[in-house]
Amino acid sequence: MSTTLTLSCLLWHLLFIAGLHHQNQAYAAGGGQWTLVQNSIGIAAMHMQLLNNDRVVIFDRTDFGLSNISLPSGKCRNDSNEMAVKIDCTAHSVEYDVLANSVRPLMVQTDVWCSSGAVAVDGHLIQTGGFNDGDHVIRTFYPCGNCDWNELALGLLARRCQTNDAGEENNLYPFVHLNVDGNLFIFANNRAILLDYTKNVVVRTYPSFPGGDPRNYPSTGSSVLLPLNLGQPSTEAEVLICGGAPRGSYGQAKGGKFVAALNSCGRIKINDKSPTWATEIMPLARVMGDMILLPNGHVLVINGAAAGTAGWEYGRDPVLSPVLYQPDNPIGSRFEIQNPSTVPRVYHSTAILLRDGRILVGGSNPHVYYNFTGVLYPTELRLETFSPTYLGLEFNNLRPKIVSPNSQFKVKYGQKVVVRFSVPGALSNKGIAVTMVAPSFTTHSFSMNQRLLVLGGGKSTLVGSTYQVEITMPNLGIISPPGYYLLFVVHQDIPSEGIWIQIQ
Ligand SMILES: *[C@@H]1O[C@H](CO)[C@@H](O)[C@H](O)[C@H]1NC(C)=O
Ligand SMILES: *[C@@H]1O[C@H](CO)[C@@H](O)[C@H](O)[C@H]1NC(C)=O
Ligand SMILES: *[C@@H]1O[C@H](CO)[C@@H](O)[C@H](O)[C@H]1NC(C)=O
Repeated sequence: MSTTLTLSCLLWHLLFIAGLHHQNQAYAAGGGQWTLVQNSIGIAAMHMQLLNNDRVVIFDRTDFGLSNISLPSGKCRNDSNEMAVKIDCTAHSVEYDVLANSVRPLMVQTDVWCSSGAVAVDGHLIQTGGFNDGDHVIRTFYPCGNCDWNELALGLLARRCQTNDAGEENNLYPFVHLNVDGNLFIFANNRAILLDYTKNVVVRTYPSFPGGDPRNYPSTGSSVLLPLNLGQPSTEAEVLICGGAPRGSYGQAKGGKFVAALNSCGRIKINDKSPTWATEIMPLARVMGDMILLPNGHVLVINGAAAGTAGWEYGRDPVLSPVLYQPDNPIGSRFEIQNPSTVPRVYHSTAILLRDGRILVGGSNPHVYYNFTGVLYPTELRLETFSPTYLGLEFNNLRPKIVSPNSQFKVKYGQKVVVRFSVPGALSNKGIAVTMVAPSFTTHSFSMNQRLLVLGGGKSTLVGSTYQVEITMPNLGIISPPGYYLLFVVHQDIPSEGIWIQIQ
């Protein structure tokens, strides 16, 4: 199967209701803390994937011109097909080591611009396609100390790339979610289907998104499959899509008029007999936002702009504040505005979840080259982390710590696993959950393969000085495709640091 298909505050935290009224709704204001972790990684973090060695593979494109980081050991690319610099001794991919907070340059031979990827069962990244000389190329990257990219001789049968300016209706980066029945939910523009990819048959067509505005590139919104709760008799699958740009915005942006982004989200139970979209209004309108599933099942909407569209030079008014969405709260009290960054993250920016619960945020380059001066939003080489409120010191007493199993634990489908953990303060049994999260391949405001499962389990019991809870692993690959996941114990919405598990 093609991998393109499998795609898919610390102390100042004050939980107060801000006097912010928008469309007759009051929104809670939250906290969260921003930290600049790298002043320059040398490239724009356009694509990011966390691997099971806590290192993040990052790349942009070979035809941006000279980057700000040299290739390792004096290497240069000599590519006669290259459109920007034919002999280029700079890197367009790096590996970010989260634990060491260090950056290592990597060498891609052909253009990886606007591509996709997925992590294989053994933990290596399979990256597919790109642009120009890279549009048929498959590349692999193994999570080992000093590994670099491999370009496979066997390529894709068709080009997998972002087309050149195809206008308003090119609907790139469709939102693809693996449903609990094994079919693929695919959303593009304002419509969705359920595809049985094994037979190439559309098994279901969904009502179109209310309002009719498009949600995919260049009207880029974002989407997540909400947490799948395996503790329930039948697992419901719900898709959430937020933001985007009104129909016609791309043409308007070309003419120099930057239309206000969409502030609506749509939520749909994709296995209902008669599914309908429930619309909700975000406190901040956003195009090119990223949506991240947090270990506690909340959703963070981050990055992006309040006007214009995706595409070269077409975004305006960066939205610096993330917004938290709590899916289980009653409608009207789900959104919470978080503390703002100072760094605009517009087109070609990314955000991913790390094992310690922080969100790594990088990129932004709305220009055809690396342009650091004389432009509205300079090419952004800085890496930041956003620490959601749950990482605040005031929650240290609630924070669980996983004692066993050890990280890199291997499990089988349906296996029962005892998870032992400690909590500094008093444990509230009601508030314990064990979750597992598939790290995503993120680019262009969509996190492919992102998936969070809430594992069923009994009550936690005190054994000696630690608590233990027995969980049951998902029993099917369609519920959790084989490979590496981050496992968290969550206590009253405060997650532990994750451990890596491999299911197969
Ligand atoms: C890029 O590198 C040059 C030379 O080392 C440096 O002067 C410049 O500040 C760097 N630009 C950015 C945006 O980091
Ligand atoms: C680059 O490759 C071409 C052949 O493809 C060769 O003629 C040229 O000498 C090479 N240049 C360098 C600097 O290696
Ligand atoms: C960006 O940089 C390129 C190459 O250095 C230059 O030709 C181009 O004019 C710059 N673009 C803008 C918008 O300044």
